[in-house]
Amino acid sequence: MPQITLVPTGQIFVTEPGEPVLAAALRAGLNLPHSCKGGHCASCRARILTGEFAYPRGRPAGITADEEQGGYALLCQAIALTDLRVETREVRPAPDVEVKSLPCRIERMDRVADDVMALFLRLPAVEEFNYRPGQYLDVMLSGGRRRSFSIAGAPGDGRLIELHVRRASQSGFTGQLFDSMHSGTLLRIEGPLGQFWFRTESPRPPLFVGGGTGYAPLRAMLRQLVAAGDRRPVTLYWGARGVPDLYEHAWLEDLQRQRPGFSYRPVLSGPPADDAAPWTGRSGLVHEAVLADLPELAGFDVYASGPPAMVEAIREAFPRHGLPREQLFFDSFDYAPDTLAKLQGTAPPGAQ
Ligand code: FES
Repeated sequence: MPQITLVPTGQIFVTEPGEPVLAAALRAGLNLPHSCKGGHCASCRARILTGEFAYPRGRPAGITADEEQGGYALLCQAIALTDLRVETREVRPAPDVEVKSLPCRIERMDRVADDVMALFLRLPAVEEFNYRPGQYLDVMLSGGRRRSFSIAGAPGDGRLIELHVRRASQSGFTGQLFDSMHSGTLLRIEGPLGQFWFRTESPRPPLFVGGGTGYAPLRAMLRQLVAAGDRRPVTLYWGARGVPDLYEHAWLEDLQRQRPGFSYRPVLSGPPADDAAPWTGRSGLVHEAVLADLPELAGFDVYASGPPAMVEAIREAFPRHGLPREQLFFDSFDYAPDTLAKLQGTAPPGAQ
């Protein structure tokens, strides 16, 4: 089995046959940078110093030919063919959280939009589950598979963990959730995970940009700020296809009226609404709406969460508008790797 050595730390782990380098690192307890695990967000980009690797599904969308030529690889997709030496950094987990694998029970399911379910999970009474708003958890599935979902509630929202799940397939986990799961269904989760959390210590105002259910981790951050009485200015852009997909539009409009400094800017990308419910707000792509309003971004911390195409557009365009890369935090879980592969026509047989 290929052995992976991290530089400069010297940490070593091995990969199983066909196992991506990132998955093997996480399995070994090494928290390497990552987000989408689908080859799109480039969070897991690292330099391969020596050794051979391959992408079974072809070069992922999140890396350019130039980057590849420069020796970089996306560890969430790269399969080691030989021993590798990989230059990357291990991200320390938040000091106040502990990653746990826990059983839980579906307490409640609320259909908040046609294809979005708010799912409330109850943990065993004796277990603490601490997380930072913005982090995600994995739902463990059969055969060692897992699906990642951002936590939509703030830690103070009670003992229930709230997730916003978009239906991404007919027969996979999300399809089963919509069609056959019910309150009382038992699940196993692992978390909290990820490095997408709100940097409270920053003096810069946050600019939240969400697409679809990518709103969920931003909602967790927002609820935390509100609960803490934090009065810093906050701007939220939420991109969705149609009005029904802005499933917390009323709450956000209320919050905008009640909390000085909070600005809510919904943007619809779908076809114009019918005459019965005309849309008088913004239309187009959400990242373009941000740039039209705020062409100079150097003074913000940007938290972006949504489909891979939205996150890619932001990563590409916002630095050209003055945003330093260290002030851009992003997350992208709208599609699981198997769903992405299907969309790209590269799914291995049997993937769902
Ligand atoms: S985690 Fe590898 S590209 Fe997103």
